[in-house]
Amino acid sequence: MAFPQEFIHELKARCNIEDVISQYVQLKRAGSNLTGCCPFHSEKTPSFTVFRNNENFYCFGCGAGGDVITFVMKMENVDYVTAIEHLAARAGLTVPEDGNAMRARVNKERYFEMNKLAARFFYDSLIAPENKDALSYITGRGLTPAIIKRFGIGYADTSWDSLTGYLMSKGFEKEEIKNGFLAGVSQKSGRLFDYFRNRIMFPIFDLSGNVIAFGGRIIGDGKPKYLNSSDTPVFKKSRNLYALNHAKNNTDSSLILCEGYMDVVALQQAGFVNAVATLGTALTSEQTRIISRYANTVYLCYDSDEAGQRASKRAIDMLGDVGVKVKVVTVEGAKDPDEYIKKYGKASFEKLLKGSDGHIEYAIKNISSKYNLDIPEQKLAYLDECCQMLSGVYSDIEKEIFVQRISAESGIAAEIIRNEIKKRQIKTHRRAVKDAVRDDINKSIGYGDRINADSAKNLSTVKKEENLLGILMIRPEFINSPSLKELLSEEIFQCEFSKKVWREICRNADALQDGIETFGDAFTADEMGRIVQMTVRRNELKNNSEAVAAELARSLRKEADRKKSDDGSDDSFFKRIEELKKTKK
Ligand code: GTP
Ligand code: MN
Repeated sequence: MAFPQEFIHELKARCNIEDVISQYVQLKRAGSNLTGCCPFHSEKTPSFTVFRNNENFYCFGCGAGGDVITFVMKMENVDYVTAIEHLAARAGLTVPEDGNAMRARVNKERYFEMNKLAARFFYDSLIAPENKDALSYITGRGLTPAIIKRFGIGYADTSWDSLTGYLMSKGFEKEEIKNGFLAGVSQKSGRLFDYFRNRIMFPIFDLSGNVIAFGGRIIGDGKPKYLNSSDTPVFKKSRNLYALNHAKNNTDSSLILCEGYMDVVALQQAGFVNAVATLGTALTSEQTRIISRYANTVYLCYDSDEAGQRASKRAIDMLGDVGVKVKVVTVEGAKDPDEYIKKYGKASFEKLLKGSDGHIEYAIKNISSKYNLDIPEQKLAYLDECCQMLSGVYSDIEKEIFVQRISAESGIAAEIIRNEIKKRQIKTHRRAVKDAVRDDINKSIGYGDRINADSAKNLSTVKKEENLLGILMIRPEFINSPSLKELLSEEIFQCEFSKKVWREICRNADALQDGIETFGDAFTADEMGRIVQMTVRRNELKNNSEAVAAELARSLRKEADRKKSDDGSDDSFFKRIEELKKTKK
């Protein structure tokens, strides 16, 4: 039974994977993820991980993995439909009957309508005479009436129920207002109260122009400074970017990525119509994928403080993974782009963009700022860090440019630096291969390979297949790219399981942009585990470029061709005779 995509989306929005798993496993924070002891095999040190970015779990110990639905299937030992029913009951949702796909759709439209009314309500409040202090706060920060209108910026007044009252008068249910993150329910009285009070409101639009959420900045000081909508049935903060609805029309295929709403609005007002921002969280892998669809180059324009610079480093890596070129813009003399533009004007900002550093340049500057090259030990440390950093650079040409530079700066021959980098690359490669092999051995000792019975036949082919499929699941748009289209087809995969995954990727190519949840009930829970493993591993290996995918596909095709001619030597003999006959005719 296939459920409508909208229903699955809504179900997953309401059944946060973290909450569901927490009922069974004690989870601890580890960086941006959560870890705990795996409930599917016995262990003392946690190798079970919940990835918040894409809402999957994966156990590095036993290979179990999947989404929240898979988790329930495995944990409760039930089938797909029962797991869905279980989660729907938990979320208070009715499971749609077959063919009843409209239901969830209608629901979504109502949220869009409600948000649109709320945005208008906020806008009207902002320009209402009794709220002139709010308007003068925002105009005082340099925004013109035109840009306020363009972005639909508004004001949520100090009342506890003005918005709620308004929406109810328009026929919206308590439940809807609450689920849309516009109001909370008072524990004492059970009455609704407006979440956003005395805040400047920034509506967030999707690419079709629907209002899907809000960010609200407190006027003056107060905590929290920003209140942002949580995920709702129509909003996932990890899958949207502020102002992309405006920026996507930019023709030079670049984006300026900032941290704050105010930065974006100030830049857009100054004519930089390609400015976007994340929605109050660190950049997610889903966002980088969206970015790669609209931009070849990203000007990273984070705050100049330490937190901003730390976030930059992470963003550089993540954007590099999806093949986006990164230029790092350092806003010197101001804390963020908004302040910079106000202080120095738009011509200066234009110059900043033009003179911004490539990501390697940026990394080297960061390294060299730490050391004094006149002191031998420090020079050594400088070279050490530079070589380590450059050993991770993929392009030989790029690497060479910086080898020359570092050589000139340090007075060490380029040849020596080049060799040092090569040595480190070999070391990391060896380690990666060793880890992978150990992984595979562990798995076959403990479990055998129940999922992919063909894997024992030719481990290296299987690995290639899994790596290629992993990339394709992360970057499904590659399927139709000119360099890959010709190379890819079902026959290049030897394993039945790989063939099946390939078919599902083709069938779901569009929906895959949202994650592998679109595979629905095509796979068992254990199979989903293997599939998640493929994507996790690719994300670790990085370098999910089109070129790498093409190389893998080419090599698999070669193997498949060789195999064909080996297997069917008689066959090919007869074929040749047939051909000869034809040409004679
Ligand atoms: P101004 O201080 O008004 O200039 O805002 P800003 O847009 O420059 O924001 P800032 O650099 O302080 O923060 C960047 C972004 O982080 C904001 O746009 C918000 O999305 C988010 N953010 C900031 N403070 C908070 C907070 O207290 N809670 C949450 N959830 N998000 C915040
Ligand atoms: Mn700011």
